[in-house]
Amino acid sequence: MSIHDASIGRASVTFVLISLCVLVGGLSCPDDAPRSPVSSRTEDAGEVSVFFTGSELGALKPCGCSGGQLGGLSKRAAIFDRVPAAGRVAVDTGTLVAGTGEQDLIKFRILFEAFRLLEYDVVHLTDEDVETARTLGLSAPQNGPFAVIGTPWEPDRNDPPTGFVKRRIARDREVAARLLSVDARKDRPESAAELFAHPAGEYEVNILILRNADAESRRIWAESARADCLVVPSESDEPRIYSEPGERPLVFAVARLGRYVSRLRVRFPGPGTEPVLFLEDIPVEETLADDGALVNLYRQYQELVRRSELLEKYPRIPLPEGLQYVGSQACQSCHSYEHAAWSEKAHADAFATLVRVGSDRDPECVICHVIGMDRESGFISEQKTPHLKDVGCENCHGPGSEHVRNAGWTATAEPKMSCLDCHTPEHSSGYAGNEAEYLEKIKHWREP
Ligand code: HEC
Ligand code: HEC
Ligand code: HEC
Ligand code: HEC
Repeated sequence: MSIHDASIGRASVTFVLISLCVLVGGLSCPDDAPRSPVSSRTEDAGEVSVFFTGSELGALKPCGCSGGQLGGLSKRAAIFDRVPAAGRVAVDTGTLVAGTGEQDLIKFRILFEAFRLLEYDVVHLTDEDVETARTLGLSAPQNGPFAVIGTPWEPDRNDPPTGFVKRRIARDREVAARLLSVDARKDRPESAAELFAHPAGEYEVNILILRNADAESRRIWAESARADCLVVPSESDEPRIYSEPGERPLVFAVARLGRYVSRLRVRFPGPGTEPVLFLEDIPVEETLADDGALVNLYRQYQELVRRSELLEKYPRIPLPEGLQYVGSQACQSCHSYEHAAWSEKAHADAFATLVRVGSDRDPECVICHVIGMDRESGFISEQKTPHLKDVGCENCHGPGSEHVRNAGWTATAEPKMSCLDCHTPEHSSGYAGNEAEYLEKIKHWREP
């Protein structure tokens, strides 16, 4: 088993960054956008903070559909900067994206660039991350802006667990944050215990990142690995602590989707005392300041999505019985009252909203802001299918081709969407419990 020191074991990530700038040629490269200082507030230098994030699953930024959403890479700096750089260590525990589609691959690159801008010390890759990296054709990392540990790059090689050490000073004493990544299915807790028995500094905080762990392996590793902390895979959008208060090791999982930053504080209560550890989960709230370089990076992401023409490539299933979408305008001649009423409501501006925020070519957004993006004859782009932008008549009443052809003598058809298909708790936090008010607000039909 080997553990790399920060100074010697640095692994490279430049490989992912090269193509980013090539792909977004013409746009300013993140290299020339230094991160703006967000907060001048500093805290008691008598402690060291290890920040943990992970399980982003592709969530770079909340959609902004409704208020109060947590998360966003551009807000992490405001949290990290509460601690002076010399007193902190930033760790991402991995599982960066949710699949290996083209958009996931773009996000993977963007996240690596974000870690660089945010001055992460180490990024831990899980099996899924390494699979994504291999799909991207990336080669094994060397000499980059942050260390990379975790699942071995070559799938069949039985590499020893990888680790990382960062030394920081608190109250004039050296604290070594020592991280070790292990596969709960393959590695042995005793070997971690052996390694952790070797001193790494005046005080060491031994942190084990467990890959592929279930409840049983969590228990076994907690008992026998001699770690101070066990970071286990995330199972929830909320952060979780599995150990009892005061118990060692501290066993926890970070929140999914970047909704929280977990901060492990290593503090000396007084001169000559042993350090105490405690964990704080900081919500990444809307009100936190955005970092300029990260905001710029998100714009580059939107540009990459735009240039990749993901909407054009989106898989589309046929509508039943040869039906087609015709667009809201086609209903106006016979339903002028309903059309006029609809056109004054928010639904009729749903696409303009995406244009305003620059996400009008992003399938992850467009799907709920237009008619039939995932169907044949549905929305493709504002240029190709201008009649199908916005939330239109056919979202709720179904494709209209037959109804229009028969001058209204056959009913509009399935598939019809219900309010809840789009007004999910995540995208419309105010909907549940206020269904009647929402319905009243879209009223475009005549009273009987
Ligand atoms: C295809 C997805 C979709 C469906 C189905 C849908 N909506 Fe919406 N709705 C949206 C989007 C997107 C917006 C935001 C429009 C904007 O302002 O850009 C919205 C906005 C609204 C608003 C305005 C909210 C506000 O505070 O201004 C109301 C009210 C509303 N919807 C009610 C409904 C009701 C009631 C139904 C079901 C009968 C429904 N919606 C079905 C996507 C949908
Ligand atoms: C599951 C469907 C869905 C998806 C996916 C979706 N939206 Fe929305 N969006 C909505 C609904 C519904 C509303 C209206 C919410 C409300 O008012 O209750 C909305 C509202 C909005 C608004 C606020 C409009 C206003 O009133 O100013 C913005 C901005 C927005 N969406 C942007 C996005 C972006 C950007 C994405 C992609 C990252 C996205 N949406 C993805 C359903 C969706
Ligand atoms: C967000 C969903 C939604 C959108 C968009 C929408 N409608 Fe409706 N529409 C409804 C609902 C809900 C009702 C209420 C009666 C019902 O349950 O069918 C209704 C009622 C109607 C009725 C009266 C039906 C009846 O049986 O009396 C007509 C006609 C109609 N809409 C036409 C349109 C036209 C035309 C458009 C576009 C210009 C449109 N609607 C857009 C959801 C929608
Ligand atoms: C050529 C005229 C014409 C056009 C165009 C037309 N309709 Fe209709 N529609 C009618 C007639 C006629 C009725 C039945 C009488 C009534 O309820 O007004 C009707 C009824 C409806 C109803 C209530 C009964 C039902 O089928 O559920 C809805 C909803 C509706 N139309 C939606 C639409 C939508 C959406 C469009 C555009 C895609 C559209 N209509 C286009 C003539 C038309």
